[in-house]
Amino acid sequence: MTNFKNMVDSYGSPLFAYDFDYMKNQYEELKEAFRARKSLICYAVKANSNLSVISHFAKMGAGADCVSIGEVKRAIMAGIPKYKIIFSGVGKSDSEIKEALKLDILMINLESEAEMTRVELVAKELNMKARISVRVNPNVDPLTHPYISTGLHKNKFGVDINTAKRMYIKAKNSEFLEAVGVHFHIGSQLTKLAPIAESIKIVSSFLRNLKALKINIKFFDVGGGIGIDYEGEKTIELYDYAQSIFMNLTGLDITVICEPGRFLVGNSGYFVTKVLYEKQNEDKRFIIVDGAMNDLVRPTLYQAYHKIEVLNDNKELSKADVVGPICESGDYFAKDRELPQTAHNDLLVIKSAGAYGFTMSSNYNTRGRVAEIAIEGNETRIIRKRESFDNMIALEKDYLCN
Ligand code: LLP
Repeated sequence: MTNFKNMVDSYGSPLFAYDFDYMKNQYEELKEAFRARKSLICYAVKANSNLSVISHFAKMGAGADCVSIGEVKRAIMAGIPKYKIIFSGVGKSDSEIKEALKLDILMINLESEAEMTRVELVAKELNMKARISVRVNPNVDPLTHPYISTGLHKNKFGVDINTAKRMYIKAKNSEFLEAVGVHFHIGSQLTKLAPIAESIKIVSSFLRNLKALKINIKFFDVGGGIGIDYEGEKTIELYDYAQSIFMNLTGLDITVICEPGRFLVGNSGYFVTKVLYEKQNEDKRFIIVDGAMNDLVRPTLYQAYHKIEVLNDNKELSKADVVGPICESGDYFAKDRELPQTAHNDLLVIKSAGAYGFTMSSNYNTRGRVAEIAIEGNETRIIRKRESFDNMIALEKDYLCN
């Protein structure tokens, strides 16, 4: 068992800690499930973009799925080969497109016809051929939280099949575009295979149409989205997941790409926070901790459940809200959770915090972003320093008038 107390003594509180061995196991399990075909796992950097985390996956042979030029640069800096990097996202700017093309990454994933026009123009300006894929929106309900559902026509992501077909034909006839992939991603924290399987069926049949049109697609990208156990929920079996892909690709010479984020890092991570006070308002009990919604926003943003362990010996449980110091009622980690009585400086460990934890954190209330720690074997090491007050004001202080 990881010694969180030692960690806080060394690095302070609050902090994020990530188990690097766990990440490796997750990666290897997925790679094993895909063993029967050529495959590339492109880690979705948005889940946890710490350079040391990306570098850990780079060493395992992973590629990267990025959604901004900043993420592309992080991936390259962390050692992901350029030819394994995909650049997705509904709104890429001209300058991002230009930089991505100059960097010669694997492909730019297009999300609209208008975007294809821009990419073609920029490629022409650079006198090069842009490798592209198109994100197909299969209009399948992924059965997840509406904020992280992306595969329905009412969502802003991708294009319908007819538009996609038009785009591929245009690309085929363009001097400056080369279509190399087809892509979909219907949502995140998916715990049911059926919607993914249905999307695979729709998009692979579209892929066969493209092949018939002599459009030489090399990559079938099934997106990310594999759900994890936050609350004891049963999620997707990797073997079934891989099979549902393979059975639709029989006879096709194609590399499968998948873009998991949460699956690789979610349950590797812990958010460790100290108890400041307990207080009782009439019959409501509050545990006030030094971490807050600016550090881990998932509970308040998605009503997400994260298990919480209190590191003390008290056994008697009663309901409490775990809240932070921020001036908002939405600043909480748990509501009406059965937890033991706590004392000043007791530690709380909030689980499943490795994905969309630190990357969604902010400086709200002028709170410095917390330290990040790697756990590997029996060792721990810092992989991002805690932000200081000076860090937070660095870009403003020179403009202060008196
Ligand atoms: N590929 C694409 C195109 C994506 O948009 C995403 C996630 C992924 C891959 C990785 O999905 P994953 O394997 O991690 O489910 N902040 C939310 C999740 C937002 C996901 C956005 N896109 C949360 O905390 O639940």
